[in-house]
Amino acid sequence: MCGICAGISKENMIDEIVGGLKKLEYRGYDSSGVAYIENGKIKVVKSVGQIKNLEKKLAKTCANIVIGHTRWATHGVVSESNSHPHISQDGKVAIVHNGIIENYEKLKTTLKTKEFYSQTDTEVLANVISQMPGDNLQKIVSACREVVGSFALAVMFENCKDIFLAKRNSPLAVAIGDGEVLASSDISVFAEKFEFCYILDDDEFARINSKNVVFFDKNGKKIEKNRVFLKNFDFYSDFSDEKYFMLKEVKEQPMAIRKTFFEYTSDKKFFDLQQLKAFKSFHFIACGTAYHSCLMGARYIRHFCKKETHVSLASEFKYDENVLSKKCLYIFVSQSGETADTIACAKMIKEKGLMSMGITNVSYCTLNNLVDFVLPTFAGREVAVASTKAYTCQLFTMLLFALMLAGKDLETLKSFVLDFNVCDLGSDILQSLFKFKKIFFVGREQDYVTSLEGALKLKEIAYLNCLGIAGGELKHGTLALVDDETLVIAISTQTGLKEKMENVIEEIRARGGKVLLVSQFEHNTKVDYKIVLPVHEECLMPIVSVVPLQLLALEFCVRLGFNPDKPRNLAKSVTVE
Ligand code: F6R
Repeated sequence: MCGICAGISKENMIDEIVGGLKKLEYRGYDSSGVAYIENGKIKVVKSVGQIKNLEKKLAKTCANIVIGHTRWATHGVVSESNSHPHISQDGKVAIVHNGIIENYEKLKTTLKTKEFYSQTDTEVLANVISQMPGDNLQKIVSACREVVGSFALAVMFENCKDIFLAKRNSPLAVAIGDGEVLASSDISVFAEKFEFCYILDDDEFARINSKNVVFFDKNGKKIEKNRVFLKNFDFYSDFSDEKYFMLKEVKEQPMAIRKTFFEYTSDKKFFDLQQLKAFKSFHFIACGTAYHSCLMGARYIRHFCKKETHVSLASEFKYDENVLSKKCLYIFVSQSGETADTIACAKMIKEKGLMSMGITNVSYCTLNNLVDFVLPTFAGREVAVASTKAYTCQLFTMLLFALMLAGKDLETLKSFVLDFNVCDLGSDILQSLFKFKKIFFVGREQDYVTSLEGALKLKEIAYLNCLGIAGGELKHGTLALVDDETLVIAISTQTGLKEKMENVIEEIRARGGKVLLVSQFEHNTKVDYKIVLPVHEECLMPIVSVVPLQLLALEFCVRLGFNPDKPRNLAKSVTVE
């Protein structure tokens, strides 16, 4: 996965392209680079690491024809030389590429040059383009005809004021604004500035300048394309080059958390703080994953606001003999805002004249019409049935809400928001875990909530019979099931409970169970496997620690031959009771 942003304007385009690359960082952030035209010649600037490193290098650069790239390494190690843009040996062509040129070794043998700056498939393609006969468009069309694989390309040529685009099996779109044309791997890059865009289909090409864009078919023949109006578009939506939506959505979590943070710290007013502060207690109600986020939401309110909380499963709350109160705010959490059990409870609360709030991820939904206040989550459309980014955005929104109620400064979360990234599980550890068919998740307090969510993910997409258990509860029953064929995933992110978790781990190992520790700390116990988490404030660790569990479930699912996006017997929106 990589991200492309390219554009032409009468003004300096460097900031626009760097800004676009930042929005695409969720697609890869090993390294980044831009190429631009200066006095007809191609210039390149690259940097390893986050886009901000590239930004520093470009501080004094001005250019109005620019192609940019953020890389997630596929061919070749992470290095400046392997970063895009890549230049042909004659220096006449620069390209940025998202995708994989599967036959690049074969194409290499057709090239006159035997010298390469990098180990990448993309550099080979730059040389293939340069070597082709005809005008610039013909060169690209002919080169792409030779390619086996996937590509979204932005290409620039020496002494040329146009940028060329090409697409096959990797997303690419282009938007036209006032004196500016911008192309990108993701239409969310256009969201704030442009009214409409065009989405390229496979084997289509485009030529852009600062005023317009012309489209061509696979033979280089001009074609017309329809506009897509951006206000009608659900960003982060079905525009994906990941094999599974679930993987796409797991990887979108940093971007979604960032968006949530910037929305809640903007000038927008989502609720009347004074009115909400007046409530004496908070009762959270939801189903499934959203129920797990409620368990954390209640913890945040207790911890930061020292107020009474209750948490109920919607399907239980409906039939429970609840003691309801006007001093309590009833908070319904639902990604879809359409879950029948949750809606039934919200209706009941409304009929009784009590106050309620919805935490939802969809602006137009039944739940939002029933409640007195709405806290939106900004995860963007979630397609995969198993909830991932909606869950972490719910946690983060509830944390922001609790901090606001407690009168705390939200800016303290900014460094987390900018640092938070999706970890890599590593193939070694995965290979050793696949043999286990009996898996438990244990944790205490906030890590217990993560255990429940980790177990739910594995159950629903990999169909493994697993359980989330509170660390202290093992010895009250479940320990009887632990033997040397059992994997226990121990989550330990709280300093004050580290020793207690060490005891839990000892209990498991004494019965022959194997332990995978998910933690940011060293523990004084031997474990069989470990996933080391980055260090963040303890209240943020439920967001950090659930990510490897989501990925683990996905890996098990794919390994067992299932489709993570459409687990059997489940639906994304459960509109029946
Ligand atoms: C699990 C999952 C479900 C939903 C539950 C509630 O991954 O997605 O457990 O969390 O069906 O759905 P919403 O949040 O739409 O009310």
